[in-house]
Amino acid sequence: MTADAGFGEVERLLRAAGQAARTELERAQDAIATLVRLQTAQGLAAEFTREDRPYERNAALARLIDEGLLERAAFIQKRPFVLQFYKRLLFALDREPRTILEIGVKGGASTAFWKALFPSCRVVGLDIKLQRWLVTGGSAPDGVVYEQGDQADEARLQAIAREHGPFDIVIDDGSHRSEHQAATLVALLPHVSPGGFHVIEDVHANLKNQADGHKTDYGSDIWPDFVLALFERLRRGPVGTRSAGADLAQAIAKRTDELILGKRILAIRVAGRGQP
Ligand SMILES: C[S@@+](CC[C@H](N)C(=O)[O-])C[C@H]1O[C@@H](n2cnc3c(N)ncnc32)[C@H](O)[C@@H]1O
Repeated sequence: MTADAGFGEVERLLRAAGQAARTELERAQDAIATLVRLQTAQGLAAEFTREDRPYERNAALARLIDEGLLERAAFIQKRPFVLQFYKRLLFALDREPRTILEIGVKGGASTAFWKALFPSCRVVGLDIKLQRWLVTGGSAPDGVVYEQGDQADEARLQAIAREHGPFDIVIDDGSHRSEHQAATLVALLPHVSPGGFHVIEDVHANLKNQADGHKTDYGSDIWPDFVLALFERLRRGPVGTRSAGADLAQAIAKRTDELILGKRILAIRVAGRGQP
């Protein structure tokens, strides 16, 4: 073997060893993320209703994060006021949900949380890019059915609804772009069961566009007009000037009998409560 060939062989072996080490590290990271996500869903979740990022004051978890072994994505991203909103909403549902679809799952902490709360509920999580540890095909250890797909793709939403619907609750916590939120609402509301909810999180995202230097374009701010127009329709009042938000409200008003507003979040209830 020449010296050059020898160096080439050593280089190849080092690259292979590096790759094997990376694969092992990723496996360890995925296992830690899954373990922490399940523990959070089953036990720690209550802490997230009281404070943001409680894991930061947990020395063991904080060390895992510092060492790059645990990603923050393994923790629920919903802030305490959002979880409190869901607590009231679940009470208002008046029955155990049988199916929940959440769009935008990040590390799967919120979907694992719904499944831990309602073990017999079919929880489906859709994300444009699933984290490595979220297994598709219904075999995820948290019992959630994960699907990959873009909420801007209406055909994909329809296919998911045909396969897994109707839903007692649809949660849109995906791109937070107003045109996606609106199109998702129109596409999925017919697949929400009577008395069920379609929830849209982060309806304030478009306001961020106005902040200097904000990189993401969340679209135009359709929600104030939507809320006003839907309220007018619900009380049989006049709907004012036409706009994207008002037109969206008109499009869904017939199927709706309630609008619940929270801080940066809204829920639309599908009419026909009490019907099978
Ligand atoms: C705020 S995170 C979700 C947090 C999670 N629901 C929780 O409460 O822990 C938003 C997620 O939406 C996903 N997302 C962004 N654009 C999307 C799109 N067009 N369709 C589907 N998912 C999207 C992102 O990949 C990300 O995982």
